[in-house]
Amino acid sequence: VMERDLARASTLPSRYYVDPEIHRAEKEKIFARTWQPVGDVADATSPGDHFTAEIAGEPIVVVRDKDGVLRAFYNVCRHRAGAVADGCGKKMSLQCRYHGWTYGLDGRLMHAPESEGMADFDKARFGLVPIAVDTFGPFVFVNQDKDAPPLATYLGNIPEETKTFGLERLKKAARRDYVIGCNWKVYVDNYLEGYHVPIAHPGLNKALDYSSYRVNTYRYHSEQFAPMRSNPSERALYYWVFPNWMLNIYPDNLSINVVLPLAIDKTLTIFAWYFADGHAREETLAFSHEIQEEDIALCEMVQKGLASRAYDRGRFSVLRENGVHHFQCLVEEFLG
Ligand code: FES
Ligand SMILES: [Fe+2]
Repeated sequence: VMERDLARASTLPSRYYVDPEIHRAEKEKIFARTWQPVGDVADATSPGDHFTAEIAGEPIVVVRDKDGVLRAFYNVCRHRAGAVADGCGKKMSLQCRYHGWTYGLDGRLMHAPESEGMADFDKARFGLVPIAVDTFGPFVFVNQDKDAPPLATYLGNIPEETKTFGLERLKKAARRDYVIGCNWKVYVDNYLEGYHVPIAHPGLNKALDYSSYRVNTYRYHSEQFAPMRSNPSERALYYWVFPNWMLNIYPDNLSINVVLPLAIDKTLTIFAWYFADGHAREETLAFSHEIQEEDIALCEMVQKGLASRAYDRGRFSVLRENGVHHFQCLVEEFLG
């Protein structure tokens, strides 16, 4: 469907944003095959620390095991599919809260109450199902696909380019969740261009030098730069990693966004801010909230338009929408 030549390309057909069949396909082919942000290294630093997450409906638990190794598993008991962890905390074993099957921090099934009499029951074959886990700075990522390229491949030059920010020293200071009435790709499309800034974000437009705004694309990520009007040696730097993770670096603050599909037309966006002293400034959060409210209104408007019988595909601004085209090509590549 997608033409690789930006100048000739049309946007993804509207059914990609409204068809529940696409939502099902994306869970399998995108969210179960890519590196997914699930939490913070700080929440799993010492043995027994664990936290849970959900990726497009898939329950996950991340634990620090007895030997200090970070591990991730599906948060699904091998008995009758209960959950073995809830929220976050510290425990030296993971006990299912349904019938009490108990697993070690390495995922091994240690105890299954009243299981004597079960024929051919080999505990060794009923451990928690492991998944790949890795970290970048203070962030933990998991990947459900055993054959996926390593996290470093997804991140490309981001670790190198962000070295000076000392990401690993930063602590989470605030989090805000927003549920939006749009497909997750509407939100990502919108994030990946500065084209709408002059019309839709008057406040942000005052802060950024729009004429110098540019977007560079790579294999699995893209980056957007805009110098600050107040001091052109300072700039806003926005990284996006396929499919749904964003790292926003301003001269005085750093935040991430995680974009998670809840349904074909419903999306959860998680915003979290990180500071060296773990303390978030009120005006930083308020400014971000103002921009997010503007973006939510745009995204919900676009979702309505995409569902209209009048619309199927549009065109890209060659000057401003290369990042959107890059993302949509990746979506198509993964959906196959
Ligand atoms: S479902 Fe976990 S112990 Fe029964
Ligand atoms: Fe925006």
